[in-house]
Amino acid sequence: MNISKFVTPEIIFGCGSLSQVGESARRLGASKVFVVSDEGVIGAGWVEKALHYLHAAGLKTSVFSALTTNPKDLEVTEGAARYLASGCDAIAAVGGGSPTDVAKAVAILVTNGGSTRDYEGINRIHRPLPPMLSVPSTAGAGSEVSQFAIIIDTERRLKMSIISKSLVPDIAIVDPELLCTKDARLAAATGVDALTHGIESYVSLAGTHLTEIHALKAIELIARYLRRAVADRDDLEANTHMAMASLSAGIAFSNAILGATHAMAHQVDGQLDQHHGESNAALLPHVMEFNLPACPERFQKIASAFGKDVRGLAPERAAVLAITAVRELLADVGLDQGLAALGLNEAVIPELSRNALRDACLVTNPREASRTDLEDLFRRAL
Ligand SMILES: [Fe+2]
Repeated sequence: MNISKFVTPEIIFGCGSLSQVGESARRLGASKVFVVSDEGVIGAGWVEKALHYLHAAGLKTSVFSALTTNPKDLEVTEGAARYLASGCDAIAAVGGGSPTDVAKAVAILVTNGGSTRDYEGINRIHRPLPPMLSVPSTAGAGSEVSQFAIIIDTERRLKMSIISKSLVPDIAIVDPELLCTKDARLAAATGVDALTHGIESYVSLAGTHLTEIHALKAIELIARYLRRAVADRDDLEANTHMAMASLSAGIAFSNAILGATHAMAHQVDGQLDQHHGESNAALLPHVMEFNLPACPERFQKIASAFGKDVRGLAPERAAVLAITAVRELLADVGLDQGLAALGLNEAVIPELSRNALRDACLVTNPREASRTDLEDLFRRAL
């Protein structure tokens, strides 16, 4: 028996679609919505707009925004206490991956109890969550459509992967206009995160026909539009394509899971509190080189999605062009630095490799990686 599952939320996509948030929340049966966001998104004015539409639909709201760059367990605990005290009956994330993942983890704790660490791993959530909406303000995390919540365990200094179908929001509202207010560095980092989702899910051992379509389309769109989106933050056409790319990559990795780049990046993020996309950027080309012998035909397809001419080349030769294309893109968007430049100390590599070996994302990497392999990859990426 060969069974595969494919999960997505209801998706509302397009410029101006933020206006649908009130009606959408009402459709989910909400009376008071717990809005999770951060100060940057509030400063850009998007939360005020979301609140306007929620209030216009006759709903009450409570805003929680005490968040930092990477989502942390302590913020989840605080958010869950605030939710329970607020009388809310639904959750809406307005922001990037951080507010969205905190919103998901808050949703777990308010109906399932315990602490975030209790749910680390796959399928450990047993009670239904409150209705959830997600309005992304970045094109990268894909959390608006995914079965993942990635939360930093501040005691162990690593990122926990929580994976469950329960974490797929009920409705994702993707409005490309929200992307225009983030800076170029964030646009580059989030775009490379989406690229990594596309590539890792495309070569994942758990990939299916449905995930491959979305993964390849995401890679193709990012190859064409990320440079433009970084160079001109007001380029609405580029932002719209990047929003669709992030969404597609999110759908792909949510169902196919990821690989060694993410298993390793999660450990770097836990140490440095850098943007997750920057950790991915430093690791991705090296992990691609490591994985290439396991599936050269897949990397050949990735090279084609980047627009490389692979006609007449053997798969192994064509596959190398995928890595070249990724390195070129990273250089063009200013993310071709190594882990040492991000602040990583070589001395922590053995510890990071041990923890990466236990990360759920490593299970679907197309080539088996030992602790020594991971240590070697971390060193190459320094
Ligand atoms: Fe990611």
